[in-house]
Order: sequence, then C-alpha cells, then structure tokens
Amino acid sequence: MAEKYSIARYQVNQLHPGLELGETVFSADGGILLYAGTILTQKHIERILTYGVEAVRIRRTIESGDVVEGCPETDEESEEDVPVAYCEPDIPEGAQEQENDFLHIYNTALKNLKRCFTLVKLEKHLDCDLLNEIVDSLLQLSMRGISATALLHTTNRSEDYLFHHSVNVGILANIIGTLSGAIQPSQQRNLVMAGVLHDIGKLEIPMQVLYKTEQLTEEEFNLVRQHPAFAFKFFRNFKEIPDSVRYGVLQHHERDDGSGYPLKTNGSKNHLFAKIIGIADVYDAMTSKKVYGQEVSPFAAIETIQSDSFSGKFSPQHTTPFLQELCETLIGRFVTLNDGRTGQLVFWNRTGKESCLIRFSDGKILDIGGHRKIKITKLVC
Ligand SMILES: [Fe+2]
Repeated sequence: MAEKYSIARYQVNQLHPGLELGETVFSADGGILLYAGTILTQKHIERILTYGVEAVRIRRTIESGDVVEGCPETDEESEEDVPVAYCEPDIPEGAQEQENDFLHIYNTALKNLKRCFTLVKLEKHLDCDLLNEIVDSLLQLSMRGISATALLHTTNRSEDYLFHHSVNVGILANIIGTLSGAIQPSQQRNLVMAGVLHDIGKLEIPMQVLYKTEQLTEEEFNLVRQHPAFAFKFFRNFKEIPDSVRYGVLQHHERDDGSGYPLKTNGSKNHLFAKIIGIADVYDAMTSKKVYGQEVSPFAAIETIQSDSFSGKFSPQHTTPFLQELCETLIGRFVTLNDGRTGQLVFWNRTGKESCLIRFSDGKILDIGGHRKIKITKLVC
C-alpha cells in the first residue's frame, strides 16, 4: 500500500534541515532549484533564501493513527492528506520555455559548428566569424550555471558525437571554471572557445580510425593521441586564435601528475584552461553515447573525476565545486541501482561520512552510502 503523507506550506524562516520537499522549487526565471523529494540540508535552505523564494511545500509521512503535529503556521494553504505518490515535478510554463530556448540555441550552435568543422576538414580553413558566433551563443548558455548540465543530458548525442562533445565541453568548461573561482569574467569567452576547439585536431585523423569500433592498433592509438598537437599546428595559420586557446587545446589531455599526453607535462607547466577543459572532457565523454561505447551515468562520471582528483590528475580546487553543485542537481531524481531497483535520490552528503538516501515506491529509505556493493547505475529521469 502506498504510504500516506501530508503536504503543508512552510515559510522559509520555518525550514530546518531534515524536512522533505513536497514540491519542486523553481527560481523566478523558471530554473529548477530543488526537486520534490529532496531532504533539506542547511545549504539547500540557504539556496532557497538566496533565490528569494518565500515559502515551499513540505511533505510529511503519516503513520496510521498518527496525528500530525508541529506543523507551522501556514499562510494560505491548509494541510492536506495526499494519498498517492507525488513526485512528478509540477513544472511551470516558464521552465518549459527556458528549456526550449536552451535547446534552440544549442541546436543552432551545433549546426554552425558542423559547417565550421566541415570547412576545416575540406579546405583547412577556420571561419573565425562563424566561430565567434558559436562561442557567443555557448557563452550565453554556460551562464545558466550548473542547471545547464542537466539540460545537456536531454540532448541526443549518439549521432555526430564530435560536434555534440565540442559544444558540450565549451559550455561545461565555463561552468567548471566559473564555479571554481579560477576564471575571471574577462577570460570566460576564450575558455568557451578553447572548449569548442579542444578536439579540432581529430579532423586530421581518418574517419575509419576515429570511429573504429574494434580495438585500435598501437600505431592508430599513437595517431589519435597526436590530435592536440595537430590542432596547435593548425592554429599557426590563424592569428585570431588567442594564446590561451592554443595552449588550452594543446594541453587538454595533459594531467597535473604528468601522466597525460602528448608531451607529459605536469601541473606547473599546464595552462589553466587545459586543466579545466580536461575535467569537462572526461565528464562529457563518460556521459555521452559514443560509437564505440555506451555512456555511463553522471554518478560514475562523478566517481571517476573524484578519484582522478585524489590521485593527482586534476586539482580539487577545480573539481570540487563542480562535483558538489552537480550532486545537488541530481537530488530528487529517479535512479536505478545495480541490484535492479529504482528509487528516488532524496539526500546526498559527500563530505565526511558519505550518506546517500534512496527512497523506494513503498516509502522505505535505504542509505547506500554505507553499502559498498550497492551503486547507482543509471539516471532514470
Ligand atoms: Fe581530446
């Protein structure tokens, strides 16, 4: 039997950690702040305050024979019993328009990038006006911050992987750089440009190698690993490309511990743009559908980037703010576990002892933070 619960309206000053959201909370411009089902932390409450939300609806489970107590004063809506699962986010019109607007800009940039890269491939010419147009539009999308990351998951990326990946890395690089505080506003445009161009050197690699589904030979593998150097050489003919973009592209596969390629340079030699693009590249490559492999969930990508930070490949200064914000956007979403069960992620604390609460349809909550064998494998919706 589905559990029974009540929904009541709480003023923001009545909120405290541990309460559960009974509705998805939106910002004034329609962006999703927190999903229904989220168990509030102090950080969530501060976020709600920052965005000027005055009141939210809180859900409380009613045990049979229970009298609901301690409900704060409600201003206009009396407490109500809700008998069925409630978790469908009540998306306002503004949010749908915002998503459509995002996808329109995204798809236009994608189309323009195809034209731009086709010219590079066929005529070895980079149309810098067209490139600037693409960069301006992606800069605009990246200004939406971490919420843009969720929208990237809604785009179909199985076809034209290189174009989607280039657009996504342009957007993600600026989100990661800005969240880390390492990038100044005056650098954002060039960072987006470096992200868009990071894999342009792959256009010099024969298609049959680039999209080969079997394992690459050593020779082919070494050729693919030269793509950052191919790009750097190509840029010599285009004075319009700033140095920060050239080095951001050349070094995007280098790692802080010197384990990357093609030059195996370490953190002190690698350009800041390259360090940030490297993170964006790993995240998008893992979460995208490719010709030669299936995408993984954002949860596995988060784990990989975190472990690459621990091992010294990426700087935690650049990865931590992004991963934290990313985790916040996933709370309230429905996920599948490796044991086949599906539930809603209602709480996730990654600092100190990890706690990750999943609520199943029968209302039971499991903390998989304490279960090494249980993992989230898929983001359902
Ligand atoms: Fe690359």
